[in-house]
Amino acid sequence: MSRLVFLGPPGVGKGTQAAGLAQELGIPHISTGAILREALEQGTTTGLEAKKFMDAGELVPDSVVLQLVRDRLSQDDARSGWLLDGYPRNLEQGQALQGLLDEMGESLEHVIYFECAESELVRRLSGRRTCKTCGATFHVEYAPIPEKGQCEAGGECDIHQRSDDAEEAILNRLSVYQRETGPLVEHYKGQDQLVILDGAAPIEEVGTALRTALNQAG
Ligand code: AP5
Repeated sequence: MSRLVFLGPPGVGKGTQAAGLAQELGIPHISTGAILREALEQGTTTGLEAKKFMDAGELVPDSVVLQLVRDRLSQDDARSGWLLDGYPRNLEQGQALQGLLDEMGESLEHVIYFECAESELVRRLSGRRTCKTCGATFHVEYAPIPEKGQCEAGGECDIHQRSDDAEEAILNRLSVYQRETGPLVEHYKGQDQLVILDGAAPIEEVGTALRTALNQAG
């Protein structure tokens, strides 16, 4: 059974890799960022509360995100495994996830950590484009939007740029990452629980290295 956490800085390619792997493994790809953006689109209280944090590139309060994760992991399709993308992202969330898993009688199988230099992350985030309808992610340079729309919902993709991919928010997200997520990475390193991958490589190479590492880790 696969219970995986994808850890790494904004723009390193967690979402890009998670989408394909989760599909292959037949498990849900659970992105806390995507859940929060959907809540905002739907105008829920949680979404509206989260907006100011997300737009500024700050973390949404731990208690809010824990409730979202708790609800999502208790759904039927998560019984046979899951891939958490973007959660946990500080030590408190790491402890909360462990507590949640203990309650559920489950354990984490692997934490996959993607590394990449900051200058490349800025380039990736500022060039990222997303389809509002199917959620697919593209990049103006590295993963161009196909000429013929390939929206999973049918027809043309509805392309937009995320509001937190503005320059000021990007820089803040990177500094929040260092401050909040850095200690969590060290924690998992200390527990010998981390699979470390070079996230700076091209998309296909990262995908191959990811599958090889998971096969080797068993
Ligand atoms: P979230 O949506 O999780 O954003 P993030 O962690 O900042 O990560 P990104 O989605 O920006 O990057 P990614 O690593 O998935 O990269 P991608 O694959 O898209 O969170 C957004 C906000 O929600 C947070 O700031 C916070 O406010 C809130 N939030 C979410 N979770 C939270 C939590 N747990 N606690 C509190 N608050 C939370 O790739 C990026 C671009 O690069 C794309 O254009 C892609 O095509 C391209 N690309 C990908 N891989 C490669 C490659 N190998 N080579 C070249 N280009 C590549």
